Amino acid sequence: MNKGFKNILAVSTIIICGSLYILGNNEIAINNTRYKGMEISLNDKTNVVEEGNGLLLVNSKLGLDTKYKPKDLEIPNIPFANESQTEERQVTKIVVKPLEDLINSAKAEEIILLGNSAYRSYDLQKRIYKDSVKAYGKKYTEDYVAKAGFSEHQTGLAIDITNEHRYFVKGTNEADWLEKNCYKFGFIIRYPEGKNDITGIAYEPWHIRYVGEQVATYIHNKGITLEEYLEEQ
Ligand code: DAL
Ligand code: ZN
Repeated sequence: MNKGFKNILAVSTIIICGSLYILGNNEIAINNTRYKGMEISLNDKTNVVEEGNGLLLVNSKLGLDTKYKPKDLEIPNIPFANESQTEERQVTKIVVKPLEDLINSAKAEEIILLGNSAYRSYDLQKRIYKDSVKAYGKKYTEDYVAKAGFSEHQTGLAIDITNEHRYFVKGTNEADWLEKNCYKFGFIIRYPEGKNDITGIAYEPWHIRYVGEQVATYIHNKGITLEEYLEEQ
């Protein structure tokens, strides 16, 4: 064997073994964090919500870039919980009117809904996750809080709703109204009851996500999740 060929062989062996090692470990780095044994891909950052297609899907496997921030954030004209910070009062422009209409329609039926937490930057989500682990433990946090970079809140298309008692659970007038009516305004209950194996998050009657009226109506009528809807397309 001549020397040149030997060198090529050595380099090829190193490359092949290195690739096999990485594949075998199934490890991927996103936002400077390494995730092992998970299939994760980075969302297309230019993807935006559109009626019928191009719906931005963010879940525990589909993340956003650390720096991802919607360009057109605005504070809607709705009542917010006092403790809600300025940053998390924002939603993307497309959500403003449907959200205001939803809150006003509820009010016309004497249902008082308050905005609690909408847009959250990567850093805010990171803080929320950390604080939750401290206050409620790892299990609860994994069930209810997305890791930074994997939260729909970072898209500005989702908002947590609460009521005056800060007790927004199934069976309260406010949560029941939201579940029954939010689709009419283009929102879905993003983490429905009994679907945590699909969404990766426990039942959250307070978290609504804007997908547009047509898709929301379809999802509501079929009782499916956004993941299942997108799978059908
Ligand atoms: N509570 C939802 C899953 C979030 O933290 O994004
Ligand atoms: Zn939420």
